[in-house]
Amino acid sequence: MVGGPRRRHTTLPGPSPATQALTGSPTVTTSPSEEAFRDLMAAFASGVTVVTSRAGEQDGGMTVSAFFSVTLDPAMVVVSLALSADTTPLVERSGSFAVNLLREEQRELSIRFADRIPPEQKFEGLSLERGMGGVPLLQGTLGTLECRTEAKVPVGDHYLFLGRVVTVHGGRPGKPLVYWDRDYWGLRESTGRLGAPGALREGAP
Ligand SMILES: Cc1cc2nc3c(=O)[nH]c(=O)nc-3n(C[C@H](O)[C@H](O)[C@H](O)COP(=O)(O)O)c2cc1C
Repeated sequence: MVGGPRRRHTTLPGPSPATQALTGSPTVTTSPSEEAFRDLMAAFASGVTVVTSRAGEQDGGMTVSAFFSVTLDPAMVVVSLALSADTTPLVERSGSFAVNLLREEQRELSIRFADRIPPEQKFEGLSLERGMGGVPLLQGTLGTLECRTEAKVPVGDHYLFLGRVVTVHGGRPGKPLVYWDRDYWGLRESTGRLGAPGALREGAP
């Protein structure tokens, strides 16, 4: 995640890019500062997942918004995990991970799994199922993808993990938890569906 909450924009005056996108007052930055990059990324909405893994007897899980599907055939996804996260070495060692797609009612889970607390505390009181290799699968989500790592690409202080989807667990129907403008949002106040259903689907994963 780039547009995240760790460091808030403090130096650029004026409205945030998220607000600019709504009000239409543009700024141009030709040599992008970290702030400009972060701020624009904050204007881009994403869903929220929790990536879980297990290596040996150790469970781990972390909130991840840097997730996307790459191809349908074969079914492949990418997650971007910080080298500093405790979950990352578990994904490296086990060669597998699960991506749990959060529903909008699961904001508390996102906050919990984004916290730098011991993994035991993250899973405390949660009812879990276990997947391949014992990977923890969160319950009450939109669904979970179990993945086997096919490639690991170091990029700066993150690894990109390319995962082949080996199992799709359907979850509860519902709306996704959305992260935008450095905060959580639901779609209840949505302006509605834009465009004909399926109009843009051809060829898109
Ligand atoms: C909404 C949100 C999205 C996040 N997305 C990512 C991400 O895509 N990649 C990442 O490395 N960290 C991301 N984080 C930060 C991690 O969840 C956080 O560093 C976590 O404490 C790591 O847990 P761990 O050290 O127990 O593995 C995100 C945090 C939030 C709140």
